[in-house]
Amino acid sequence: MLRRLHPVQPDSFEFTPANLEWAQAQITKYPEGRQQSAIIPILWRAQEQEGWLSRPAIEYCAALLGMAYIRALEVATFYFMFQLQPVGTVANIQICGTTTCMICGAEDLVAVCKRKIAPTPHTLSADGKFSWEEVECLGACANAPMAQIGKDYYEDLTPESLEALIDRMSAGEVPLPGSQTGRFASEPAAALTSLADLKGQEGHNASVQLAADLGETLKRIDGTEAPILTKWRRKPEAAIDDQTGRDTAPEHEPRPSDDVPVDDTGVTEQEAQASSAARPVSKREPEGVREEEAEAQKDDTGKTD
Ligand code: FES
Repeated sequence: MLRRLHPVQPDSFEFTPANLEWAQAQITKYPEGRQQSAIIPILWRAQEQEGWLSRPAIEYCAALLGMAYIRALEVATFYFMFQLQPVGTVANIQICGTTTCMICGAEDLVAVCKRKIAPTPHTLSADGKFSWEEVECLGACANAPMAQIGKDYYEDLTPESLEALIDRMSAGEVPLPGSQTGRFASEPAAALTSLADLKGQEGHNASVQLAADLGETLKRIDGTEAPILTKWRRKPEAAIDDQTGRDTAPEHEPRPSDDVPVDDTGVTEQEAQASSAARPVSKREPEGVREEEAEAQKDDTGKTD
């Protein structure tokens, strides 16, 4: 399928302050010179902010990572998870159309989308609330046919139940995801055939229960869901105990080490220890370290590996 930028583009894009802080934190997860590796999460957050990826958004992300625009465009156009056109403000309904779902009635679900949303995929409904597309297997084949709507799966769908879901979402409700026929998970549709006496008392499986507890599944990610876990960005003194002088950061967590050399080479913990020739040169790399490494890699015959 040809994936091109939408003909109508906004004038500009920039991250919200919260998203920019998040993006800058993600970039620090990658070694010096390899910040481009953050392109997928950064593009994803841009899409979460706007709903889709515009040309200014792709260029903004490329500039943030110091990479050529064309490289970011290649990523955005390669992966189908990136939307290159506006999507519905409430939801973009992704109907699985692969074998199991197709056999179990996906085409009837697509017909509902064509009738209730728009005759063609990637097209906004008249009120702008919905769009739809057909996607490949989403890995919930035992509960076919199914659709991903927002962050969750709606399974065991029928044309009637999908239609009802769209109506409820349009009215501002967030229907409970998971099986729409009452299955707990992916057990036999009729009844359990084994381990029947171990049936739990929980009303929902963990995934559905989480959605029920949160009370939402449609809202796009905006950074309020989880704290930014990049503790190595803390300054060293933040984790040093005043009394003992010991590093109090728990062992299982990354220790703050920004700008703190790990040994007398002056290399910090954030810098790659890769030994391949493709290793980028760090701005903080001490002089002569490359030669020392090459020397160390020589075998007994004096040849390098
Ligand atoms: S075929 Fe639809 S989820 Fe696998």
